[in-house]
Amino acid sequence: MGELLEVTDITAGYGDGPAILDGAHLTVEPGKVHCIIGPNGAGKSTLLKAIAGMLKIRKGEVRFKGERLNGLRPDQIMRRGIAFVPQERALFPKMTVRENLRMGGYILEDKHELERRIDEVCERFPILKERAHQRAGTMSGGQQQTLAMARTMIIRPAIVMLDEPSLGLAPKIVQEMFDIMAMMARDGITILLVEQNALWGLRNADWGVVLDLGRTLFEGPAREVLSDERIQELYLGGKRAA
Ligand SMILES: Nc1ncnc2c1ncn2[C@@H]1O[C@H](COP(=O)(O)OP(=O)(O)O)[C@@H](O)[C@H]1O
Ligand SMILES: [Mg+2]
Repeated sequence: MGELLEVTDITAGYGDGPAILDGAHLTVEPGKVHCIIGPNGAGKSTLLKAIAGMLKIRKGEVRFKGERLNGLRPDQIMRRGIAFVPQERALFPKMTVRENLRMGGYILEDKHELERRIDEVCERFPILKERAHQRAGTMSGGQQQTLAMARTMIIRPAIVMLDEPSLGLAPKIVQEMFDIMAMMARDGITILLVEQNALWGLRNADWGVVLDLGRTLFEGPAREVLSDERIQELYLGGKRAA
């Protein structure tokens, strides 16, 4: 099957600083859920930021539908259909839910179409419809994460990248976030997830990527990552995971 996104051996870092990524690669297939795991500081967030165009790629290549994305600005990458929910969620806490959804669609020229899509997203996520005029910063962590994920759908993205959507959420709420992710996947949106809770992430994914020290150590079917003894020992807490 053809890849949707292909990251080949990239080197990248912040400003003129040292290379944080060096030898990171990744293959993303359409319609699937991909999960990147690895210890704290491995470069997982940096990899998503590099794909999103937020830092300069010094070597290697990011290709999306065959087009080279190296050097494009974040908004140009978003326009091509790659949405990104960073770890800190990047909501506007003082703006209402509806205003936040509007910001998510700032690249759309047709403002009537934008309002129509916001209504559509509100129908999908009743909590957002209910809270439409509430300031985002006053909602619970789970509701804010729901808003951050739903907001990406305004641009009808091909790929949504999620950086640790479960961070700071209670287990029951974490499951809700994975349910939203699964719903997006059923809608045909390809998911690229970074997850600190590696077991949870991999069990909800089709494809697994192990990143450490800025490079990809392994990528393959998620169940293979889960059942690999060496990966279990090093990255999954040593217990039988599968
Ligand atoms: N804005 C930044 N400027 C400089 N270095 C950074 C910045 N963000 C992260 N780093 C460094 O990049 C490395 C990888 O970080 P990160 O990608 O956040 O890892 P992970 O998401 O896997 O925990 C760390 O050593 C971290 O200190
Ligand atoms: Mg991170």
